[in-house]
Amino acid sequence: MSGGLGKSVCIIGAGALGLVATKNFLEEGFDVTTFERNAYVGGLWHHTKDTTQTSAHPATRSNISKQGACYSDFPYADDVSIHPTAKEQQMYLESYAGHFALHSSIKLSTSVAAVERDDARRKWVITTKPTNIIDPSVEHHAFDRLIIATGTNGKRTMPVFAGQERFEGQILHSQQFKDASKFKDKRVVVVGLSHTAADTIQFLKAAGAQKVYVSHKRSPILVPTTVKGKALDHGVTRRLTFIGALISSVSPPLGAYMMEKYLLSLQNTTWPALKDHPAFATTRASPSVASSVPTMSATLALNLLDGSAESVQRIDRISGAQTVQLVDGSELPDIDAIICCTGDNFDISGLVPAEYDPTNAAFAPDEFSAFNASAYFREDYPVPRLYRNFLSLREPHSLAFLGYSLYRRPVFALYDLMTMALAQLWKGEFPMPSRLDMEANADKHYTYIVSELQNGHVNHNGLTGDIDFDVWLNKAAGTQLYERLGWGRDGWKLWWGDRKLYSMLMDGVDSPHAMRLFETPRGRKSWEGARAAIEEANAEVEELGKKWQEEQHAGKAKVAYD
Ligand SMILES: Cc1cc2nc3c(=O)[nH]c(=O)nc-3n(C[C@H](O)[C@H](O)[C@H](O)COP(=O)(O)OP(=O)(O)OC[C@H]3O[C@@H](n4cnc5c(N)ncnc54)[C@H](O)[C@@H]3O)c2cc1C
Ligand SMILES: NC(=O)c1ccc[n+]([C@@H]2O[C@H](COP(=O)([O-])OP(=O)(O)OC[C@H]3O[C@@H](n4cnc5c(N)ncnc54)[C@H](OP(=O)(O)O)[C@@H]3O)[C@@H](O)[C@H]2O)c1
Repeated sequence: MSGGLGKSVCIIGAGALGLVATKNFLEEGFDVTTFERNAYVGGLWHHTKDTTQTSAHPATRSNISKQGACYSDFPYADDVSIHPTAKEQQMYLESYAGHFALHSSIKLSTSVAAVERDDARRKWVITTKPTNIIDPSVEHHAFDRLIIATGTNGKRTMPVFAGQERFEGQILHSQQFKDASKFKDKRVVVVGLSHTAADTIQFLKAAGAQKVYVSHKRSPILVPTTVKGKALDHGVTRRLTFIGALISSVSPPLGAYMMEKYLLSLQNTTWPALKDHPAFATTRASPSVASSVPTMSATLALNLLDGSAESVQRIDRISGAQTVQLVDGSELPDIDAIICCTGDNFDISGLVPAEYDPTNAAFAPDEFSAFNASAYFREDYPVPRLYRNFLSLREPHSLAFLGYSLYRRPVFALYDLMTMALAQLWKGEFPMPSRLDMEANADKHYTYIVSELQNGHVNHNGLTGDIDFDVWLNKAAGTQLYERLGWGRDGWKLWWGDRKLYSMLMDGVDSPHAMRLFETPRGRKSWEGARAAIEEANAEVEELGKKWQEEQHAGKAKVAYD
């Protein structure tokens, strides 16, 4: 075990990330206890009416396909939709917990109230209390290691509008938007134009809102979720990801330029009329593709184009009991509600002691002043200082924060890989980098974010396009994916000996099952069902393409994209 520490691990949170961490640490022989404040697992994919918790709406759909979004050793059931609904996501996560018998390690309805460090004993002391009990008794538990998986969407980013005290309608954050039917016949302003706004507009339209305005500063880069009958991510093969990442590693600006060209051409081919739409006017800035995720939506473009949502400028002030004034001076009258789809953030404030908080500016004073110098830096959106955006620099052998890191991969698969890697690292099976290397990695990310902040607000401050991140995770986890698909002896052996598999891995669906495919001398457990699951995923996707072609010939398939 690394750092001379014991095997006990505490995981806080049993959402998609906490669950996969629980599974991967149990599998590697750790003693795991996971605390979850809710009475259920699955986190935000379980719809709740609790307005203090972010959750999917019942009509939300995953923007990634079930073939791309699954965990490495647990495919979705056959009857699940290509883009699973919130209910299907919830059931998938529950059945994952059931299949791997995780419940005996998860303490439900138990909130972690505080985390303390006992330096003398080299332990994390966790204070818990039962959720929903008025006068709860607290308990203290000591662990060797601690994983924070409390979710990236917990803390609202809420704008304050000048004059809002005079508004007689409702101002709410999307976290509080639980029931669209309350907005039937209402006139609503949606603030922000990203994923949550796209969904909220659709839910308001379906509920019969009388008028929906969408007030936004920037234009999103908008891409469809389905292309010619297949999910968008079905076409993002491992080969394309490799090529894109290699170009970015040689020249980051060229990589960003090419990615932007590709995404914009996809947007323009899918919805040519958007080019002339006010929401995409050249006067509005666009986010940098290097530090943001394109908005994937099946409905937003159509709702903008058919007038179901009217794009307007940013709100300047509330100018009357029901009147909203925009920065261009125009006014929106008779407004009943303003729904702020302005994003949310990780919230560890008050949970972790300040000296272990990776967003504590005191530990990175020089770079932090560079953040502050940018007009776009927001204190409510701090940049964490972590090794590879997940490992504490101060206690790398015992403290990890899941949720900040983002790579161009579906998050369930990313966190599966990341927790496989972390388990190998903490088991002592893969060398812990030197402190200097870790500091250098954190510095590099800081420099990158500072440069991105010149272009505008950074929506995902843990996003990296650096292929080195994926290579390192795979190496640490011991998947041997890069070795078997690379230029070395093992790569040639697979290419020569099993061309079908090689082609499926490089040019087929980028299936997370590939991470469990190879029997390797060290590292995470392989899964004997991996090859069959990869073949099945590819066959399903091929079938989708064929079906679309057939419908096209029969004149039934109306659109190439949605
Ligand atoms: C509406 C919505 C739709 C999304 N859709 C997609 C999508 O289509 N594709 C995609 O890739 N990503 C999507 N995301 C991103 C999302 O972050 C991930 O899909 C993922 O589900 C997040 O999992 P998580 O475990 O980090 O967080 P959560 O699901 O939020 O889980 C965190 C858990 O920690 C628990 N917890 C928090 N604090 C404590 C405490 N003190 N004590 C005990 N327990 C605690 C919470 O109760 C919760 O169960 C979406 C996000 C939102 C908000
Ligand atoms: N169905 C789905 O798949 C789905 C649904 C919902 C959410 N999600 C996920 O959930 C996460 C959060 O998405 P999100 O859409 O809630 O947030 P987001 O992507 O962070 O977007 C926030 C939006 O609000 C705007 N904004 C921020 N602060 C503002 C302010 N003070 N005033 C006016 N506008 C402001 C931003 O504009 P600027 O860009 O101009 O700053 C942006 O348009 C993402 O990871 C997303 O993928 C997915």
